[in-house]
Amino acid sequence: MATVTAPSDQARAAFADAFGYVSGGVAWAPGRVNLIGEHTDYNDGFVLPMAIERGVSTAFAQRDDGRLQAHALAFGETRDAAIAELTPEVNDPRNPGGHWFAYVAGMVWAMRRAGLPVGGLDVAIAGDVPIGAGLASSAAVEIAVARAACAAASIAWNASAMARLGQQAENEFVGVSCGIMDQLASAACEDGHALLVDCRSLATRLVPIPEEASLVVMDTGVRRSLAGSEYNERRAACERAVAAVRTIAPDVHALRDVDAALLERARGAMDEVAYRRAHHVVHEIRRPLDMADALDAGDLAAAGRLMNASHASLRDFYDVSSPELDAIVALARGHAACFGARLTGAGFGGCAVALVASSGVEEFRRYVGGSTFSSRPAAGAHLVE
Ligand code: GLA
Repeated sequence: MATVTAPSDQARAAFADAFGYVSGGVAWAPGRVNLIGEHTDYNDGFVLPMAIERGVSTAFAQRDDGRLQAHALAFGETRDAAIAELTPEVNDPRNPGGHWFAYVAGMVWAMRRAGLPVGGLDVAIAGDVPIGAGLASSAAVEIAVARAACAAASIAWNASAMARLGQQAENEFVGVSCGIMDQLASAACEDGHALLVDCRSLATRLVPIPEEASLVVMDTGVRRSLAGSEYNERRAACERAVAAVRTIAPDVHALRDVDAALLERARGAMDEVAYRRAHHVVHEIRRPLDMADALDAGDLAAAGRLMNASHASLRDFYDVSSPELDAIVALARGHAACFGARLTGAGFGGCAVALVASSGVEEFRRYVGGSTFSSRPAAGAHLVE
């Protein structure tokens, strides 16, 4: 049988190949699967992601000449820049999907702008989280780079502060208006738990995943870049809905402050697309709280029903599902061990997630076929050595 090399060993070897000396350390940051609460983070709502056992490793060493050198094993490419001269790549027509180096450079740029002493860094990146599959591969890169940069410059690790800077990198440097969920999950999750996040206050609650329950990720194989305009358009529609609601309820700041009744009262003041997007968000926003309670109570059937309702809303009101996602979700629900299934992440392709009885996981995966994996909830970013 072929030996599988761990990403941390791959990163170490890639570092030595690319830079000709031995790295000083290795950091790791996970991808995530979101159990529920989709497209709610940038509406000040709640989300319930968990870190997965797949992620990104960064082998690193400090430099003292103000340069950033990065090698990405997946692309076989090395990039080099002066940190003080980094400028945002937003709307760069040469890189419409966001070049991999933008996530590395953007993170270092955001840390530096926040006043952190990132003097210079060599970093080699290797990972086993599929790229562009809705499992937060870009956040894993950002947070693994942040963990490396902090270790190299002896900066104390602050998970939520680094998540914020990762989000800034993506918003302002790469040009994707993403919320905080992916970066926070990658930075702050804990082993064995999902992370309930209030995206308004960043307050978190650890939600244990019962041993009898497993999460199975099912990859449709369809890839669409988040940096594409669709994601930003969804966010803009939510902002139009908020502006319309404010004409009758000026205290409203975000869809978090809007309930179903208020949305109906304001419907006439907004375009139909904005209404449908807001309809999804207003109903989705409570589901992470309800699912956390269901998991705490061990009520997996109730948790599964919430996932099914979330998928229907994403498909019918937010328009981010696809025929492939709908098909894989329907297939999953046809198996007796499955409590519920939904698309996960931004949508437009990528992955779905199913809540499955642990005793039936292997049979379930054989039944679904294709590309699937199950993961226990993993820990957030940490140093490997
Ligand atoms: C992407 C973004 C997140 C979140 C999800 C949808 O993963 O990075 O901030 O908005 O989409 O829930």
